Amino acid sequence: MSLLITNIGSLVTNDPALGEGPLGLLADAAVVVDGERIAWVGPAAAAPAADERYDAAGRALLPGFVDSHAHLVFAGDRTAEFNARMSGQAYTAGGIRTTVAATRAATDAELDANVTRFLAEALRQGTTTVECKSGYGLTVADEARALRIAAAHTPETTYLGAHVVAPEFADDPAGYVDLVTGEMLDACAPHARWVDVFCERGAFDGDQARAVLTAGAKRGLTPRVHANQLSYGPGVQLAVELGAASADHCTHLTDEDVAALAGSGTVATLLPGAEFSTRAAYPNARRLLDAGATVALSTDCNPGSSFTTSMAFCVAVAVREMAMTPDEAVHAATEGGARALRRTDVGRVTPGGRADLLLLDAPSHVHLAYRPGVPLTAAVWRAGVRAL
Ligand code: NIG
Ligand code: FE
Repeated sequence: MSLLITNIGSLVTNDPALGEGPLGLLADAAVVVDGERIAWVGPAAAAPAADERYDAAGRALLPGFVDSHAHLVFAGDRTAEFNARMSGQAYTAGGIRTTVAATRAATDAELDANVTRFLAEALRQGTTTVECKSGYGLTVADEARALRIAAAHTPETTYLGAHVVAPEFADDPAGYVDLVTGEMLDACAPHARWVDVFCERGAFDGDQARAVLTAGAKRGLTPRVHANQLSYGPGVQLAVELGAASADHCTHLTDEDVAALAGSGTVATLLPGAEFSTRAAYPNARRLLDAGATVALSTDCNPGSSFTTSMAFCVAVAVREMAMTPDEAVHAATEGGARALRRTDVGRVTPGGRADLLLLDAPSHVHLAYRPGVPLTAAVWRAGVRAL
């Protein structure tokens, strides 16, 4: 069954060969979807026939958002902690342990229902690919369970046993790293594509992070790193050195960190929801973009530092607070996320790619930042199927 989406007022392809600028913008465009894939992209006037026809009525079409950093397998929330922060308390990541306790106490069905709910929320806001981390179990069984549950929803699963040292190992962090790189990794690797570590004071230092990432890599998991979120540190350099797909947060960067990212295949993933919800200073996106680094935007959805599933919100904040242009922010939330997940089949509207499409109730992708907080989703197709 093929579908012609025509009368697209403005189409973001992210393929400079198909249209103007880095977004590969096309006006008065059409897209033909055949099964799960995009079969044709071009001017509406030249579109081939298809079995079905959808009139986009002059609105904007873009690739579905690619959220390359989320922590969705958890129970409970941390409203009180958020409230305290909004009356002046600092974020320390110590609250992770609150969520660990709630998550361990939850049933598989409860955790699965939460993931389902958050993914539905994300879909309503135009997200068609979501990465999902473990990290709120911190025992062999609870981390493996989190990844099993995540893997039922997305192929982009990340083993984050090294989120913080488990409470049982408070006096023996080295013992916890042994567990994370040993028995826990054995149990989790079959369900995970990626390995991640929170490289930060109070979590894991550079040597511990290296041990976690190299052990994961030996088991076929590709590294990504929570790096330089709360302070300067070795995370970004380690990510680049180990060929990580992504260094995430990148809030505190030296000139050397920026240069290392710019000269590497490691994507700088910025998570403005975290700075918003912890009332912290935003990362300097301009500095990274001007240096030539690839930048992604993601939600970091988690109950502590960033409880949002909205990529549109992240785009709006990145434009207003991080000196990104609307074009750069939309690129980072689509193609940027795809690069951070080393995917070439999503994040673009290009022949042969997956038909993951977001139609906006707006004439241009710029409205995502221009009309903050407004639900602009008109329709979503996921792998060619109308999902919304
Ligand atoms: O990416 N930085 C570490 N992990 C999460 C926060 C987790 C939490 O506070 O529960 C993050 O911001
Ligand atoms: Fe995170």
